[in-house]
Amino acid sequence: MRLLVTGGLGFIGSNFIQYWFGRHPRDSIINLDKVTYAADFANVSNVDERCNYSFIKGDICDRRLIKRLAADVDAIINFAAETHVDNSIRNSDDFVKSNILGVHSILNAVKETEVRFHQVSTDEVYGSLPLHSKLKFTERSRYNPNNPYSASKAAADHLVNSYYNTYKLPVTISNCSNNFGPNQHPEKLIPKVITSALFDKKIPIYGDGMQVRDWIYVEDHCSALEIIIKKGAYGDTYLVSSNSEAHNIEIVKKLLKMLGKDTSLLQFVADRPGHDVRYALDPSKIRRELKWAPKYTLSGGLKLTMDHYISNIGRYAAT
Ligand SMILES: NC(=O)c1ccc[n+]([C@@H]2O[C@H](COP(=O)([O-])OP(=O)(O)OC[C@H]3O[C@@H](n4cnc5c(N)ncnc54)[C@H](O)[C@@H]3O)[C@@H](O)[C@H]2O)c1
Repeated sequence: MRLLVTGGLGFIGSNFIQYWFGRHPRDSIINLDKVTYAADFANVSNVDERCNYSFIKGDICDRRLIKRLAADVDAIINFAAETHVDNSIRNSDDFVKSNILGVHSILNAVKETEVRFHQVSTDEVYGSLPLHSKLKFTERSRYNPNNPYSASKAAADHLVNSYYNTYKLPVTISNCSNNFGPNQHPEKLIPKVITSALFDKKIPIYGDGMQVRDWIYVEDHCSALEIIIKKGAYGDTYLVSSNSEAHNIEIVKKLLKMLGKDTSLLQFVADRPGHDVRYALDPSKIRRELKWAPKYTLSGGLKLTMDHYISNIGRYAAT
C-alpha cells in the first residue's frame, strides 16, 4: 500500500510508521507534519533513510496540498492534531483549526479522490463516567465532550460521519483510550513522571490523583489501526482499549517503584478545571468483528516505556 500518514512526527503517528514498516517493509509512506512543538524528528530517525519513506512539512488545513497528495496514495491515516488538554484550556484556536478545519480539509480531498481515510480519535469525545461504576462506553454511547480538546475531536468525528452519510465515502473512525509508550511528549502523565523522577524533579499530581484512565500500550493501538485500515467497514466506528483501567496515582506510584524513587517527589496541585474523572471503553466490537486483541499488559508496557526514556534521556533532558 501507499500511505499518507499525517502527524507522523508525533507520538502515535511515529510509532505507527515504525510498526507499519516492520510489518509491510515494501509499502511506502509519506509523512506530512506541520512540525509543531509536539513533533520530534528523532521519533522517525530509524526510518529516515528508507527510499519508500518521505517527509513533507505541511499543514492538513492546506487543501491543495492534501488533494495533491491524496491522489497518489491508497489510504490516509490522520494523526495530526493538537492534543494537550491543558493547552486547549489556555487557548483553543489551534485546536479548532487543526482538529476540525484540518479534518474538513482532508474530507474534501477524500470526496474528490475517493481514497480510503481513517480518522484517529479519542475516548474523550464521550466525556466522563462515574468514578465508582462498572459502566463502559460503547460505539452507541452519546458524545459528551467536556473540554475544548475533546470537543474539537468530537466535531471532527461528526464531520467524518456526516461525509459518510452524505457522500458514502470510504471512511472509518477509531476512538482509542489513553496511549503510552516510546516517543510520547513529556507534557503527558507517564513520560512526565518518568523524566521528572529520573532528574529528581517534583511530579505534579492533579487533585487527589484518583482519576481513572484506561491505558493501552501504543503498539496495541497501532495493530488495531492496521486491522481497521485493512478490514474495517466503511462508515463504521471502532472503540480500541485493552481494558487496563487504573487510577492516575496508582500508575505514578508504580512507576516510582520501578524507578527506585520514593513518593516524596509527588506534589499535589489544584485539579484541572472540568477534569473528567473516569474513562473506560468496551472494545467488544473490534475484538469480535475484526479479531483484534492487544498483546501487552500494563506492567509489560510500562517497563518498555521506562526503558525507552532511560536509554534516550538526553533527548528529554530539557523538557
Ligand atoms: N495520546 C493519546 O493517548 C491518544 C489517545 C486517543 C487518540 N489520540 C489521537 O491520536 C492522534 C495522535 O496523538 P498523539 O498523542 O500522537 O499527538 P502528538 O501531539 O504527539 O502529535 C501530533 C502531531 O501532529 C502534528 N500536527 C499538529 N497539527 C498539525 C496540522 N495542522 N497539520 C499537520 N500536522 C499537525 C504535530 O506536529 C505532531 O507531530 C491525535 O489525533 C489524538 O487526538 C491520542
